[in-house]
Amino acid sequence: MATSPQAPLRVLTGITPSGTPHLGNYVGSIRHSVRQSVAPGVQSFFFLADYHALIKVQEPALIQRSTLEIAASWLACGLDPERVTFYRQSDVPEIPELTWFLTCVTGKGVLNRAHAYKAQLDKNVAKGEDPDADVSAGLFMYPVLMGADILMFNAHKVPVGRDQVQHIEMARDMAQRFNHQYGEHFTLPDAEIDDAVATLPGLDGRKMSKSYGNTIPLFAPRAQLQKQIASIVTDSRAPGEPKDTEGSALFQIYQAFASAEETEALRKAYAEGIGWGDAKHTLFERIDREVAPLRARYDALMNDPAEIERILLIGAEKARALSKPFMTNLRHAVGLRNLAAGKDKAGAKATKVAKPSFKQYREKADGLFYFKLLDARGETLLQSRGFASPQEAGRTIAVLQAQRGEALTALADQLEPIDTTEGTRAITEALEALVEATPTHQGS
Ligand code: TRP
Repeated sequence: MATSPQAPLRVLTGITPSGTPHLGNYVGSIRHSVRQSVAPGVQSFFFLADYHALIKVQEPALIQRSTLEIAASWLACGLDPERVTFYRQSDVPEIPELTWFLTCVTGKGVLNRAHAYKAQLDKNVAKGEDPDADVSAGLFMYPVLMGADILMFNAHKVPVGRDQVQHIEMARDMAQRFNHQYGEHFTLPDAEIDDAVATLPGLDGRKMSKSYGNTIPLFAPRAQLQKQIASIVTDSRAPGEPKDTEGSALFQIYQAFASAEETEALRKAYAEGIGWGDAKHTLFERIDREVAPLRARYDALMNDPAEIERILLIGAEKARALSKPFMTNLRHAVGLRNLAAGKDKAGAKATKVAKPSFKQYREKADGLFYFKLLDARGETLLQSRGFASPQEAGRTIAVLQAQRGEALTALADQLEPIDTTEGTRAITEALEALVEATPTHQGS
């Protein structure tokens, strides 16, 4: 996507605070995202998706604890709240409001197909239980809340794991439907899957994941880190026997932290029969070298929750500086309006995107058919003379749409005179804008 200094690429990352961050999160997401957040031409949004956490976690103390830990982790890993917008979802009440707007343009059938919901359904069916057993409406609605997270800030890019791609597609769908109904308000987001970013194996060699219980906490104290690394599965080859790097969880984890040279050195040591104990020690020292300074910052932050709270509230203010006015527009767009402010003469559809339009009408006085070209504010730019039939008026409009400004001279005797060159330019621009808007908006 093209970026220019005026229009930064908006990248939005959501993190559900429902556990303690582990090395897999660090390698797979945190490290990369923090780096990307300082790239020029990027405007980053990072938020703690605590409304999402309520779907899975119903222990208040755990929600609070996890929100604190995740916030401290990201800050410790170098996320700079001055450069990015770092906030807590529940501090932005416009998000649940937008969720409702999106709920009303989302097909229930679309949500029926969401993976997270379907997985639970399939599990229930396999167990011979009621398909909806243990399915909260929150789980069902999860993609809509996520759509609101993304569309609220008109994110262009959303870095996610493969399991989340479907949700981004659903968010696109919601944006399209809303735009179609109410005008162009939302940017269509794209998922960004970085295949270069490693998925880390866990203690047992399967993907490191909370659901497998095979994780190594990112900020475990040094001694605990060492103990955990010692418990990574290996084969039973003795020291002195050459070892396979292929399929070695230990080697893969090392690779995610080490430079190319360091990785080569360990590969060589494997071939030369390094003992597993020594290999684990090498891995431990390498990880600790990278993590120790971050751990120190993490510990300091965890000891000062008030500071984290302060940072998040400043972030929320930054976020709401965008979400509040945006929501005001959206409320207006859907028709939640000040009743005293007068109604739209032409009805809701005319207040779609502000853009020029043609209006055709019949004049009672002479029975003839006319049209006008109105600008985005509804001011008349061009007035036709009378036509005997609406078809004739329509044909002239078609010529104007096809040839824009170039048609004005040829059509001069069907139009009221245009006073100034200013006027001609405004008409030409309006016709251009109209033609550009037409393919996506049939204005019907
Ligand atoms: N659902 C995401 C996850 O489980 C977290 C999330 C919530 C998110 N809202 C988001 C991610 C918006 C990206 C954008 O990982």
